[in-house]
Amino acid sequence: LGPAGGLLLSLAGAVLPPPALPSLLPALAVLGCNAQPTYRWKDAVTNEKLTCQQCPPGTFVAQHCTRARQTLCQPCPDLHYTQYWNYLEKCRYCNVICGEKQVEVQQCNSTHNRVCQCQEGYYSEMEFCIRHSECPPGSGVEKPGTPFENTQCRPCPRGFFSSSNSSTKPCQPHQDCEQQGKVTNVQGNQYHDTLCTSCRLGGTNSTQAPGDDDCEQAMIDFVAYQNIPIRKLKRLQQILERSPRKQALGTRAAVQEKFRTFLTQLKEGHYEVTKELLDALRAAKLHSIEEKVRERFLLD
Ligand SMILES: *[C@@H]1O[C@H](CO)[C@@H](O)[C@H](O)[C@H]1NC(C)=O
Ligand SMILES: *[C@@H]1O[C@H](CO)[C@@H](O)[C@H](O)[C@H]1NC(C)=O
Ligand SMILES: *[C@@H]1O[C@H](CO)[C@@H](O)[C@H](O)[C@H]1NC(C)=O
Repeated sequence: LGPAGGLLLSLAGAVLPPPALPSLLPALAVLGCNAQPTYRWKDAVTNEKLTCQQCPPGTFVAQHCTRARQTLCQPCPDLHYTQYWNYLEKCRYCNVICGEKQVEVQQCNSTHNRVCQCQEGYYSEMEFCIRHSECPPGSGVEKPGTPFENTQCRPCPRGFFSSSNSSTKPCQPHQDCEQQGKVTNVQGNQYHDTLCTSCRLGGTNSTQAPGDDDCEQAMIDFVAYQNIPIRKLKRLQQILERSPRKQALGTRAAVQEKFRTFLTQLKEGHYEVTKELLDALRAAKLHSIEEKVRERFLLD
């Protein structure tokens, strides 16, 4: 099959009349919609020009028509196909091969080439399958990725947060502490949830003595999410660590999370976190925050 065959094949496909426009195309209507497509063929022996019938999809021309008989069509062999009415002398080979990160979504059969698609979690770009992007903390998934399109993210709007890298999770709404019969300890932002506590903060009727686990955690959360500059926050952690390590760089949200995890571990190691933290705040010259903590948690 030369390039001419391919051209003729696509022309044959284009000749199918659009059924919605019969009044605009009276000439085609006269030709008849039910007529089988034909092609012109010059008989090799007589040199006579004949009009042959084409072969339907799934078959090919085994023998061209002669003056005496119609075109002889035969089914395509295995792994070969013809998609349209045609007068090809050979079926086309199913030449699409599914690559790595692809799955076969349509098998090769006598009328269709094989069709591949990117596997779950990947989308196609310039013939490659690329993993769906994750939305970073502070933004959530607006539209999950498909085999054809990457994940679409959007920054979390007011009242919502996302604390993880995720290609599936949308922004989550902040929790409502009052609804749970608790009080708001830390207001949420786009990176973290609102944090609630049962520790009675700043009230004169303090039923739980500061030092209770819940109150200690509340104090840790309160300090970790204060608007402390990153450098000060790192200094604070260095003071609290016995053998200060070099601090990795990161966003404020990431440094805050690390600091909070660090303090929580200190607490679980049965440290006197409350006292240590107040001392460290003072050493780091974060006096206004030390003051806020004392006031809020009724510490003298
Ligand atoms: C070949 O596969 C296509 C797509 O899956 C389907 O529409 C068609 O009916 C199949 N043809 C045959 C002959 O099985
Ligand atoms: C998100 O991914 C970035 C880059 O891979 C990484 O540095 C960061 O620690 C991750 N954050 C979280 C919360 O997993
Ligand atoms: C504080 O507690 C006392 C007794 O425990 C009670 O009489 C008082 O009404 C409480 N005050 C407030 C503001 O809840």
